[in-house]
Amino acid sequence: METVGVIGAGQMGAGIAQVAAQSGFRVLLSDRDVALAEKGKAGIAKRLGSAVEKGKVAAADAEAALARIETVDHYGAFGDAFIVIEAATEREEIKRSIFAEVGARMGPNAILATNTSSIPITRLAQAAPDAGRFMGVHFFNPVPVMKPIELIRGLATSDGTVARVEAFAKALGKEVVHANDAPGFIVNRVLMPMLNEAIFALGEGVANVRDIDAAVSLGLNHPMGPLTLADFIGLDTCLEITKVLFTGTGDPKFRPAPLLVKYVEAGWLGRKTKRGFYDYSGAEPVPTR
Ligand code: 3HC
Repeated sequence: METVGVIGAGQMGAGIAQVAAQSGFRVLLSDRDVALAEKGKAGIAKRLGSAVEKGKVAAADAEAALARIETVDHYGAFGDAFIVIEAATEREEIKRSIFAEVGARMGPNAILATNTSSIPITRLAQAAPDAGRFMGVHFFNPVPVMKPIELIRGLATSDGTVARVEAFAKALGKEVVHANDAPGFIVNRVLMPMLNEAIFALGEGVANVRDIDAAVSLGLNHPMGPLTLADFIGLDTCLEITKVLFTGTGDPKFRPAPLLVKYVEAGWLGRKTKRGFYDYSGAEPVPTR
């Protein structure tokens, strides 16, 4: 059984761990401490449990997948992994220090991949043990549900690394798309301006939260309206990615909406803080404007 290392047991890391385990890989799941990794694993157990209840997954398969996930409190065991996927906080200095630490413990042919949604891969590769065996693997939230993976190669990523990661992504049942190392890659380059524009429209009084979301989700047949989706992703993440698009291209069309900046300054980050464009403290989200 091949081993996959996952760093970060939050929304993305836990999703990646779940999909890898359900695809038959042994998964080593880590976070800042083992309690956080355990919390991530408990979330996976809960999601697998409800999939079993709905009859989507056989109870024995769910149990076996869960048993393939080991939480670890250090990177010592990562020497066994053929690929290590970093899905930690979207802060460059955090990722760099993780790469230095885990890089020293990885096997000589192992690949280090980052799930960054916005930091340039070529720049991050400088902190990896070998830039040839480093690349971006951008999953989408919720990972078990969303079909694509964007594969992003840095300038120095080898063809062999891309081929091995592509085979791994396919083994997870995902649809691979290739992107160059440009700001926002493909999906966020297209998505963030839409979310940002919806926030401009709200700030300029074009319509209220409910109407903007209803218009776009029904009018374009999107599963969520843009303000609901921004809250789901996290407004801090949306702002970070928008800033990367703005500074990375130098194009004013990507300037962040002032209302998005204000919400982040207020600590209203969306679902995770129970307040964004909706209030999530009750049973149903309530629009705030
Ligand atoms: N983890 C795992 N599975 C989940 C889940 C989660 N967090 N949330 C929902 N699901 C599953 C449910 O179990 C259900 O599975 P089933 O069909 O097998 O029973 C299925 O998703 C549908 O869920 P629900 O019926 O509860 O709810 P909806 O029909 O409203 O769907 C949604 C929820 C799948 C989140 C849907 O609203 C959706 O697709 N929204 C858009 C998501 C999106 O755009 N994601 C990309 C964000 S951008 C990104 O990730 C890039 C980053 O860099 C910013």
